[in-house]
Amino acid sequence: MFSRLSVSIAKQAGKNFSTTSQNNVKVAVAGASGGIGQPLSLLLKQSPLISELSLYDIVHTPGVAADLSHIDTPAKVLGFNGAENLETALKNADVVIIPAGVPRKPGMTRDDLFNTNAGIVRDLAVAISKVCPNALVGIITNPVNSCVPIASEVLKKAGTYDPNRIFGVSTLDVVRAQAFIGEATNTNPLDVKIPVIGGHSGVTILPVLSQSVPSVNFSQDKIKALTERIQEAGTEVVKAKAGAGSATLSMAYAGARFALSLVKALKGDPNVVECSYVRSDVTAATYFATPLKLGKNGVEKNLGLPKLNAFEQTLLEAAIPELQKNIKKGEDFVKNN
Ligand SMILES: NC(=O)c1ccc[n+]([C@@H]2O[C@H](COP(=O)([O-])OP(=O)(O)OC[C@H]3O[C@@H](n4cnc5c(N)ncnc54)[C@H](O)[C@@H]3O)[C@@H](O)[C@H]2O)c1
Repeated sequence: MFSRLSVSIAKQAGKNFSTTSQNNVKVAVAGASGGIGQPLSLLLKQSPLISELSLYDIVHTPGVAADLSHIDTPAKVLGFNGAENLETALKNADVVIIPAGVPRKPGMTRDDLFNTNAGIVRDLAVAISKVCPNALVGIITNPVNSCVPIASEVLKKAGTYDPNRIFGVSTLDVVRAQAFIGEATNTNPLDVKIPVIGGHSGVTILPVLSQSVPSVNFSQDKIKALTERIQEAGTEVVKAKAGAGSATLSMAYAGARFALSLVKALKGDPNVVECSYVRSDVTAATYFATPLKLGKNGVEKNLGLPKLNAFEQTLLEAAIPELQKNIKKGEDFVKNN
């Protein structure tokens, strides 16, 4: 059900999914010089599906772009440094991926990043509304639960909001769930498929292990422990990096997988499904991640809540109030700033 980056990027070359498929795809990365931005840009440069890769950051972008431009794949790489070049960087982008902003240090929650990252996402959304209002936008910046409402409110104010085009990138939670369950069941993780719904922080991350394919047959204690490990996996990395940041390499992998799914959908591939945090009426939270069928205009169909067992229902009940609080905080920020 979920597409995989690891299914040889080279195989994607020349795959035309429809006669009306879009040939030229410009992907912009905002925050391209960072711990996530650099390996993410490398993975995107490897894809023959992308014709232009526009790298934006407030530091080091010319160097990152010069380095990547020597790789013998078709994507033309351009680097743009500093706020005065932001609009040129994003102009006419088809896809914008945002890993700009500060990451966690040990002891911090994702919400502790709000004060710095909210303004960064707001300013990027203002530029998107001006120069690429039809782009499909993937927000990696934390707290994702609040940053997606921030970008959405900015675009609403500008009159360019399309809820089907704004995504919170929660793919790393899916990737982690599949890695951990693969390990626990001694199965190749590439053959494991698990929907992860809700949001992207602590109790809002809801891995639906009852819908794992192949199915898992663990004790309730083991299910609870695996669920909590998936929910706290980001903190596991923050602790292990001991002050040097949060997940960057696994996030770059997950971000590239999500970005390439958007590109494939733009090119007319009819079978692209990803879980992502979007505007939603599936639950009482107005933004919520569920499996989505992606198409040329972003969300083509929200596939809704997977079947939940009683344990997962209790997780959902815990997630909703936290999500509502995070969403309101993002919306209030745009109202007051
Ligand atoms: N969604 C997820 O699953 C997930 C996972 C891991 C990390 N993250 C988040 O991703 C973000 C980036 O993490 P990182 O480890 O790459 O951090 P980093 O500090 O290594 O890189 C961030 C980059 O953003 C740039 N930046 C700062 N302000 C900017 C602006 N106004 N415009 C453009 N670029 C700007 C910085 O110069 C830097 O290059 C953090 O908020 C982190 O919490 C999300």
